[in-house]
Amino acid sequence: MRLGILISGRGSNFEAIANAIARRKLEAEIAIVISNRATAGGLDIARMRGIPLRVIESRGMEREAYDKLVIQELRIHEVDLVCLAGFMRLLSASFIEAFPNRVMNIHPSLLPAFPGLDAQRQALEFGVKITGCTVHLVDEFLDSGPILVQSAVPVVDDDTVETLSARILLQEHVIYPKAIQLMVERRIKLQGRRAIIREEDAE
Ligand code: GRF
Repeated sequence: MRLGILISGRGSNFEAIANAIARRKLEAEIAIVISNRATAGGLDIARMRGIPLRVIESRGMEREAYDKLVIQELRIHEVDLVCLAGFMRLLSASFIEAFPNRVMNIHPSLLPAFPGLDAQRQALEFGVKITGCTVHLVDEFLDSGPILVQSAVPVVDDDTVETLSARILLQEHVIYPKAIQLMVERRIKLQGRRAIIREEDAE
């Protein structure tokens, strides 16, 4: 499976995916990393590892026009699965149509709680005792498509946004490669919003 990874920043989830591939825990190949910002730290990770990368600046661009450029680049690299990894833009309906059920995202909360920006801060300020992270399929709405994998993370009394985010991030790095491998193994069946995960070696 050829992955196209879309980033806007640090790129630690992208790195976790690359590490899982290197350790043969994930049977996939990163065909291209695309950043909408030239300053994204994740680009250095791609450079260091010799992974093909492309900056397509989004500033000032219309959503449809921008998405068209990204789709074009993904097609050139024959991408099968698009993985959003800290990509800070909503995708248009035409992007989703170009890759039906083939766009994934990771979000740092137990969706549908705390969608949108600053999910860890939202959780802390709301006062929940358990939060976590979610890998889901992407539709044209914010943090909304079918949920594939979640991991719960406790909130402790002296947490700050930073300590809580760091604890959640460790789990993000575990579940994102895992969810992609479920796709690779074709173990995910959608029933409406529900993603039914077939047991390993069920046959
Ligand atoms: C992560 O917390 C992810 O859940 C959210 O954005 C952050 C990206 O971090 N969507 P990184 O760029 O993968 O380090």
